[in-house]
Amino acid sequence: MSKRLAGKKIVLGLTGGVACYKIAELTRALGKAGANVQVVMTQAATQFITPVTMQALSGNTVYLDQWDARVANNMPHIDLSRDADLIVIAPCSTDFIFKLAHGACDDLLSTLCVARPASVPLLVAPAMNVEMWQNPATQRNVAQLKSDGIQVLGPAAGDQACGETGMGRMLEADQLLAEIIASIEPKTLAGKRLLITAGPTFEPIDPVRGITNLSSGKMGYAIAQAAWEAGADVTLISGPTALEAPYGFSRIQVQTAQQMYDAVMVQLSSNHSDVFIGVAAVADWHVANASDQKIKKTCDTDRPQLQFALNPDILANVAALPVAPYCVGFAAESENLLQYGTAKRLKKNVPLLVGNIGHATFGKDENELVLFDANGHTHLPRADKQTLARQLIAEIAARIQ
Ligand code: CTP
Repeated sequence: MSKRLAGKKIVLGLTGGVACYKIAELTRALGKAGANVQVVMTQAATQFITPVTMQALSGNTVYLDQWDARVANNMPHIDLSRDADLIVIAPCSTDFIFKLAHGACDDLLSTLCVARPASVPLLVAPAMNVEMWQNPATQRNVAQLKSDGIQVLGPAAGDQACGETGMGRMLEADQLLAEIIASIEPKTLAGKRLLITAGPTFEPIDPVRGITNLSSGKMGYAIAQAAWEAGADVTLISGPTALEAPYGFSRIQVQTAQQMYDAVMVQLSSNHSDVFIGVAAVADWHVANASDQKIKKTCDTDRPQLQFALNPDILANVAALPVAPYCVGFAAESENLLQYGTAKRLKKNVPLLVGNIGHATFGKDENELVLFDANGHTHLPRADKQTLARQLIAEIAARIQ
């Protein structure tokens, strides 16, 4: 996992809500991502999770009280907020939203939020019953937070601890982590729309068999995630993978190369896209004589004869459109990467082609890339795929400015 939050000090404020149980996991995830987490809890939060648990998970003393004498100058609201790169309130109760909207300072957490320098971002993750969320007073207060520049994360809709269903569920720990990381990424693709393909395709032989390849989709999903972090509006068109639905952008699932081609063309004709990135390992052929029924093993000599037909080349067709987005191709090779990558970029007629060695990347968490453009090639050394994806997005953003 990339230590994207290395060197970042995060004040993590907990207020009263059942969703406190999710914060144990978030605290560990923030620590794994390299952050130094300083937990501050309201009295109500201690009803739901103990300071002992939060201290053990964060590795730091937990602060509860604005008169905490452990701080040398007895001003924890100043010291904690000056030291922070980011303040996150999760869960953020209805009452705490009200306090933030009105600048209340009646406990340590609310006071340090008001005392924070304007340069310290404040993110809040509401968690409450659906009626409390929909209450006009809450909605007024949430609108006030947004207009004050406070980032409101979620909430989501779903089953609630009280037994009711609707808006007000706090985001899950992994979604909060994604939002926190995104909040520190430069918004190099703000206002841009990206269409990205990922994963393998699957070409049926019959209803229970088919031809596919070893692509896991990890690189394409990581690039889509990095583009979302950079502020882009992202649509991911994915072949069959074991990866979970991404958070923050939409995914369209397809099976065959023809379906992927159709989905790409529908997207391009219905929405303007600034950039198209073809990360998918698209099958070059499909079985032209695929059977509607399972092919039976009748006898040893009766072998099925498969006939292959060429699939449409999605990338080359997108690049040839009269008004084409900025096109980025991938090349999965098994040898001669520099030679094949240079030739493939010209053949597909794209400004940027990303080369990698297929069997050294498919299914793995790490990779190394070679970027081919009109000026030659650049090497992005071995790293985890999320780190490489962020580097690639920075390269693309710089080229389309
Ligand atoms: N690609 C595509 N449609 C296809 C085949 C490939 O859009 N039918 C895209 C891939 O998503 C990738 C690029 O083309 O961005 C290169 O894919 P690759 O399989 O490496 O190249 P091919 O054109 O298939 O050439 P070859 O298999 O001969 O290396």
